Amino acid sequence: MAFSYMPGFGNDFETETLLGSLPQGRNSPQRPAYGLYAEQLSGSPFTAPRGTNERSWLYRIRPSVKHTGRFKAASYPLWKTAPNVGDHELALGQYRWNPVPMPKEPTDFIAGMRSITTAGDVLGQSGMAAHVYVANRSMVDDHFFNADGELLIVPQVGALRFVTEMGVIELRPGEIAVLPRGLVFKVELVDAEVRGYVCENYGAKLTMPDRGPIGANCLANPRDFKTPCAWFEEKETPCRLTVKWCGNFHVTEIGHSPLDVVAWHGNYAPYKYDLATFSPVGAILFDHPDPSIFTVLTAPSGEEGTANIDFVIFPPRWLVAEDTFRPPWYHRNIMSEFMGLIHGQYDAKEEGFVPGGISLHNLMLAHGPDAPGFEKASRVELKPVKLDNTMAFMFETRFPQMLTRYGAELETRQDNYIDCWSDLKKRFNGTPEGDWS
Ligand SMILES: [Fe+2]
Repeated sequence: MAFSYMPGFGNDFETETLLGSLPQGRNSPQRPAYGLYAEQLSGSPFTAPRGTNERSWLYRIRPSVKHTGRFKAASYPLWKTAPNVGDHELALGQYRWNPVPMPKEPTDFIAGMRSITTAGDVLGQSGMAAHVYVANRSMVDDHFFNADGELLIVPQVGALRFVTEMGVIELRPGEIAVLPRGLVFKVELVDAEVRGYVCENYGAKLTMPDRGPIGANCLANPRDFKTPCAWFEEKETPCRLTVKWCGNFHVTEIGHSPLDVVAWHGNYAPYKYDLATFSPVGAILFDHPDPSIFTVLTAPSGEEGTANIDFVIFPPRWLVAEDTFRPPWYHRNIMSEFMGLIHGQYDAKEEGFVPGGISLHNLMLAHGPDAPGFEKASRVELKPVKLDNTMAFMFETRFPQMLTRYGAELETRQDNYIDCWSDLKKRFNGTPEGDWS
C-alpha cells in the first residue's frame, strides 16, 4: 500500500479520507459529518505568537477520552529521562561506541529504546535525551504517546512504518521523521531488524534555522518536508496505549484502535525529510564555516542563537578550499555533541567510528581529527575532492549530556578511544617551517 504526503514545513495542512469528512469554514460544527467527534490537539499555548502557534483539529470516530481508561504503571527501565545524574561511576571523558547490539528477545520500538545521554530537565521543558532504538517486532495492538517531548527519529538499519493518528510515515535510512509531543502512534517494521537514533526534545519544537545572508534557498528547503495524509483504521478489538509522562510510563487497556482520525487540518503534525535533499553550503576559496552551516533543524531555547538542540548533518559534498586544513579543526565547545553515523565514513576520523556507532564530546572537552586524519589532511595535495558515501549527524545541545548507566556499561564502548590522538606529534621546533619530518 502506498501512503501519500503533503509538502511543506509548518504549513496549515488539510486532509480527509472520506469525501466531506473535513468541515469547511469552521472547526466545530454542531454535528460533524459521518458522526465524527471534533477534537483540538494543541502543541503551543493558545496565546503563543502566530509564528510559533501550533494546533490541529482532528475529526475522529471516538474522542481521545475514550482512548484512555485507568492507567497502571509500566516499566521501560532503559528509557531514561533528565535529570538523570550520577547514574554510573565512569570517569569524565570523550567516549565512542561501536553499534548498540540488536536484541535477541522479541523487542518492539518502545521496549527497544536504549538511552545513551540525557540533558536539561524534563520538568522545566528544556533539554533532550539521545537514544538508540533496536527492534525486531512490530507493534500490533500496542500504541504509544510521549508527553515529555517530540521525537526526532534517524534510522540507521532497516525501514519502518510510523502509523500515527494523523497518517502513516514510511521511513528508511537516509530519511528522518519528527513526531510531535502527544501524537499517538505505533511502529511497524518493514525489515526484520531495525536500528537508529532518536533525539527526544523536551523543549520548544524543532524548526528550520534562519538562513541569514544565505538567502531564501539552500540547506533544507521547506517543500522537501512531507506530512502524511489522513489515514484511519476501524478496529474494535482489545488494544493498549502506553504513555511516557515526566519520565514514567503508564499503560491503559482500551477496546479499539486509537488510530481513528478520519480527517484533520492544522499545523501541528508529524513529518519526514529525506537528507539527500539537503543542499549544503560551504567554503569556495579557503577555511570553512562552523558546522552550524549544516543545521537541518533547530530547537530554540529562550536565549537567542543558543539552541536547546541543533540537528546537524555531514552530507556528501565537494571540498575545494585552497591552503586549508579541510577536516573539522580541533575544538572545545560550550555546546555538547552526540554524533552518529548513518553510513560511510566521517571525514575527521580515519577509523573507529563505524556506521551505527556513537561518539560523545561533552561540554568543553577537547576533540578533533584523529592522528591519521590530521597527517593526511596536513600533507594531501589540495585538489577538489568529492566527499562521497557518507552521512554523519549530530544532536548538539546547550546542556551538558549526562551519560546513562546503560551507555557507560555498554560492551561496545571503545575503552581506547582517546588513543586516537596519542600519535599527534609535536611539530613546533622554533622555526617558521616547523618539523614535518
Ligand atoms: Fe565537535
